[in-house]
Amino acid sequence: MTQNIETSPAEKSADQRPEHPDFWCKRFGAGTTPWDAGKVPGDFSAFVDRQRAPLRTLIPGCGSAWEAARLAALRWPVTALDFSPAAIEAARAVLGDAPVDLVCADFFQWQAPNPLDLIYERAFLCALPRKLWDDWGRRVAELLPTGGLLAGYFFVCDQLKGPPFGILSEQLDALLQPAFERIEDRPVADSIPVFAGRERWQVWRRKG
Ligand SMILES: C[S@@+](CC[C@H](N)C(=O)[O-])C[C@H]1O[C@@H](n2cnc3c(N)ncnc32)[C@H](O)[C@@H]1O
Repeated sequence: MTQNIETSPAEKSADQRPEHPDFWCKRFGAGTTPWDAGKVPGDFSAFVDRQRAPLRTLIPGCGSAWEAARLAALRWPVTALDFSPAAIEAARAVLGDAPVDLVCADFFQWQAPNPLDLIYERAFLCALPRKLWDDWGRRVAELLPTGGLLAGYFFVCDQLKGPPFGILSEQLDALLQPAFERIEDRPVADSIPVFAGRERWQVWRRKG
């Protein structure tokens, strides 16, 4: 998603550090968004169609929020959240006046005003530096009640430099298995080039 610049973290400016909104604002501002599918991916679409009732959904790191537009059209209550004001602007352009709760906030600080049934993951975990992964695992567990679902796309590979940062299957298990059981796992057929061949669709259910 970006060039890697060989400097120590202390020497890097905010727009070189993916844990900072400026990193993402710079890329949205320049129109350099190779992670953006520009559509609702197939496995998520099929997952949504399988549900018998709307799920109260959070999309953390929503970017352009294509999926939120789809959920809103189906009258699902959806919060699309991103800490980059430029991403929020891109999402607003996609969403128009669709009834989406579009929030500019840090996922790690945000307080859910209402209970959630689903957290949708796409290109968010792989956008986070590894030092934030344990916090991500704790946070998704804390936001979902027993039976709640974490569903989406995981960049499962050994790509060290990022974003996107690859995660090994056993690393993902270590993050999620304390609080979740995996109920779906398959390769993805319609990945965009940056993720192709290294992306898996997974659904995890929150344990009691
Ligand atoms: C690679 S983009 C993916 C965007 C979108 N999910 C998609 O699939 O197109 C990662 C997004 O996560 C957002 N982000 C990164 N860290 C965040 C945080 N701590 N809280 C909220 N958003 C964050 C960035 O601003 C960026 O829009």
